[in-house]
Amino acid sequence: MTAAVKVAQIRAPAAMRAAVLEARAAGRRVGFVPTMGALHEGHASLVERAAAECDDVVVSIFVNPTQFGPTEDFARYPRTLAADAALLEPRGARWIFVPEPADMYPPGAATRVVVDGPARPFEGEIRPGHFAGVATVVCRLFHCVPADVAYFGAKDWQQTLVVKRMVCDLGLPIEITVCPTVREADGLAMSSRNAYLGVDERQRAVALHEGLCAAERLWQSGADVAAVELAIRQPLEARGIAIDYAAVVAAETLEPLPVAGAEPPAIALVAGRLGSTRLIDNRLLPPRSRTR
Ligand code: PAF
Repeated sequence: MTAAVKVAQIRAPAAMRAAVLEARAAGRRVGFVPTMGALHEGHASLVERAAAECDDVVVSIFVNPTQFGPTEDFARYPRTLAADAALLEPRGARWIFVPEPADMYPPGAATRVVVDGPARPFEGEIRPGHFAGVATVVCRLFHCVPADVAYFGAKDWQQTLVVKRMVCDLGLPIEITVCPTVREADGLAMSSRNAYLGVDERQRAVALHEGLCAAERLWQSGADVAAVELAIRQPLEARGIAIDYAAVVAAETLEPLPVAGAEPPAIALVAGRLGSTRLIDNRLLPPRSRTR
């Protein structure tokens, strides 16, 4: 049985980097879980996976201002450091990296990492600048935490593609592992933003999961993309959820699926708004053979 290790909080990027480099120089494999805090069981599953595969685990908690639009929820995003630290203690994290904005963005900061390709559609269209904010902070975090491997949740599928694209294009020396979405008992994907939902909204929010389940069933029966997209929309419309998108596309590129010939791996993506809360979810669709 391994003894529980006290989680140390580190604020300074240089100290964080030195601790990771020292661990790696000693032959230890270091895993990194970047987060914005307000941790839940989805984050915990990333930390547990990292702890199972690595000797040391770093979790960063930083509510990154540059990935929020001017009318988005940066100010009200939950900041729950004490509860987050308590959640991390038994899950195998060794360090929590808790920089302040000035540590991540020096005065006059004027450099942004802008990813094209998978960052362009869906969230990229609806939240202009969002993925530049994500890519910039993740690039900076990877410098502060020079780990062997970083863990991201599949719920933010488009984000995982953007990060992988950036890592490949910039030749960043880190592996990316994408872990399955963790769900509430009724199927709602765990998200820090679920905390915003009122009781009625929380009940209606399960429609995203229902739409994706219907999509998978229809997909397996051989239905075309338009019919599957309609199946995603129906439960959301029935529950008065405003739909930002409901789409079936190629999982690795987010481009439209070819109308004939071999079908690449596909994914169903959905985003909807309940009052002022915006939720996203997705489902990888099982491979199928088609005759046309
Ligand atoms: O997924 C998140 O929590 C954030 O987008 C990330 C990757 C920590 C960057 O701020």
